[in-house]
Amino acid sequence: MLTSLALAASLNVASTSLAQVNDMVVQANKPGAQIQATMYGIFFEDINYGADGGLYAEMVKNRSFEFGNPLQGWEISGNVKVMDDGPFDKSPHYLRLGYSGHRVIHTAIQNDGFFGVSYKKGETYRFSVWARCPKGDKVILEVQLVDEALDRNRHQVGSCKIKVEGAEWKKYECELRPEMTVEDGKLRIFLRNEKGEKPTSDLTVDVEHVSLFPADTWKERTGGMRKDLVQALYDLHPGVFRFPGGCIVEGTNLADRYQWKNTVGPVENRPLNLNRWQYEFDYRYYPDYYQSYGIGFFEYFQLAEDLGAAPLPVLNCGMTCQFENDIKDEAKYHVAVEDLDPYIQDAVDLVEFANGGVDTKWGKVRADMGHPEPFGLEFIAIGNEQWDYQDNPAYTKRLVRFIEVLRKKCPEIKIIGTTGPNSEGASFDILQSRMKQLGVDLYDEHFYRNEDWFLGKATDRDGNIIKGCGATRYDSYDRKGPKVFAGEYACHGRGKYADGKEKKCNHFETSLYEAAFMTGFERNADVVYMATYAPLFAHIKGWQWCPDLIWFDNMRSMKSCSYYVQQLYSHYKGTNVLSLTMNKKPVAGSEGQNGLYASAVANKETGEIYVKIVNTGDTPQPVNLTFKGIKALLSGKLITLHSDNLDAENTLDNPNVVTPQEKAIEVSGNTLSTDIPAKTFCVYVLKR
Ligand code: AHR
Repeated sequence: MLTSLALAASLNVASTSLAQVNDMVVQANKPGAQIQATMYGIFFEDINYGADGGLYAEMVKNRSFEFGNPLQGWEISGNVKVMDDGPFDKSPHYLRLGYSGHRVIHTAIQNDGFFGVSYKKGETYRFSVWARCPKGDKVILEVQLVDEALDRNRHQVGSCKIKVEGAEWKKYECELRPEMTVEDGKLRIFLRNEKGEKPTSDLTVDVEHVSLFPADTWKERTGGMRKDLVQALYDLHPGVFRFPGGCIVEGTNLADRYQWKNTVGPVENRPLNLNRWQYEFDYRYYPDYYQSYGIGFFEYFQLAEDLGAAPLPVLNCGMTCQFENDIKDEAKYHVAVEDLDPYIQDAVDLVEFANGGVDTKWGKVRADMGHPEPFGLEFIAIGNEQWDYQDNPAYTKRLVRFIEVLRKKCPEIKIIGTTGPNSEGASFDILQSRMKQLGVDLYDEHFYRNEDWFLGKATDRDGNIIKGCGATRYDSYDRKGPKVFAGEYACHGRGKYADGKEKKCNHFETSLYEAAFMTGFERNADVVYMATYAPLFAHIKGWQWCPDLIWFDNMRSMKSCSYYVQQLYSHYKGTNVLSLTMNKKPVAGSEGQNGLYASAVANKETGEIYVKIVNTGDTPQPVNLTFKGIKALLSGKLITLHSDNLDAENTLDNPNVVTPQEKAIEVSGNTLSTDIPAKTFCVYVLKR
């Protein structure tokens, strides 16, 4: 064993020393294009229970009884009726709880939560409910955190009481501190008389907007966001924050498209909406997936501000999802061009909501929600994955109307169009040229593609390399055209694991190829202004789409290998591109480049240079990096992301299987001679 290891080691060394040295030259004293502050951002969509059941820390599912089945998520006993003339006109349902008619039969309601109601020992949880006693009774609501699986003489592990009186609707609150940690618990509420006992005669109480939050949310905001999940976003240092989706912006029908005006103002009166990810895939069907809009546009803007990222809202362009609705049904599923005014007005009003003075209609709504200062909106995207047809410019004929009005009324806003769901091909080419004709400021490209595509080796049916795949994608883009927002991308792996499971999720190999591809973003900073991996979040028990950047369950969260790739690019994005070449060519995995991809940037503020090199090959590669124009580099560090196992993944149980590793390095003179290990992403952080 010892011998074969020693032999393997010596072969390895031999192959390194015999291998051709890859001589790379960095023009260290010629800073090129500026890297935009918006580079390396995040894209949030309520998919995979990303918002309700995820980022939004609300623990009660169907808290306002507005789901298709008003009692979905609830178990009831005794005398419970669903009512629909509640205090909130956009959320009219509530429950009427009354005496059961028998002294031993309880009236109670119990909520399942999102994949369970999960709570931690010693933490504080805030319960709240809107309630009234319509007949003038006085009642007590006994609120309990329970664990039905508990093997002892009582289920409850925490409780608090609320005394409800008066016929007017009021908000009541109490706090719970569970005595133990429970992952799959429930919230249970008993109706009691004013003495706190089981009722024995007529009593009625109405309850609406039943809510439970941990006190320990991001920035301790009441009704806020999950702290661990926002922290993970914060740690990415995102430059831009695209929201609220994706496909959910479009809707299957116009009625369930995302309408931002429904998502602002008091949470109790935000109307529930369907979530198309409920039914999109019948093999991962989630009949309880809705959008409560607990996180709405105010919260998204506020989050962008917290993260230091530029807010980038996406608005419906007057079209539903084109994948779901044939354009032959244009009149049924899409808004006629002449009827677009309300949609365009929504865009204009959004600018007022974000940036307008407190004396404007929508600026006042923002101020009333607690943010009199403007949010500093600079970008609006019109449409998500839309496209034109040969005989019908379905998307661009609508987009042009938005552009006309926005240019006049909101000239400060940069408009983002889309090149649709395809990264190349006829439909992409048409839209790309139309985006130029229409003069959008940026266009949004999406590419969920396989390993070959990310490495620039994808071929068409005739065996020709697909134009625009790989890290050279942007090298030939029109420098004067609209800038690029790579708004959704991820490497989707092919093949199978040994156990036959589809190999598509967040394993190390795909993240390595994303790192390789992203050297092309970096090199082309004069064209690519923003890039956001997608999707962002996934609940381990409720996902529809995979891979995703950050995974979580009710208690824990975990960063995928792709997360670390994004983070390394973002933390070391620099301020200006530096030319990095090998034999005078960009290093993009091209022939003779030994599977290497590389890019370099300078940070004018710190004087540092960051070089990213990805070795996608199976053998270590010796590299000489010469920094032209400077006499000497003094020191620095090397951060690597590597796994010997290409299928390695971080998981909730083992979140640190693949993480960046850092070590100090010394450089003498202006040349760095180094070996890039096989299948490794290296970031060199160098000081002059
Ligand atoms: O990110 C998941 C989905 O992919 C988005 O909703 C959509 O824009 C794309 O098709």
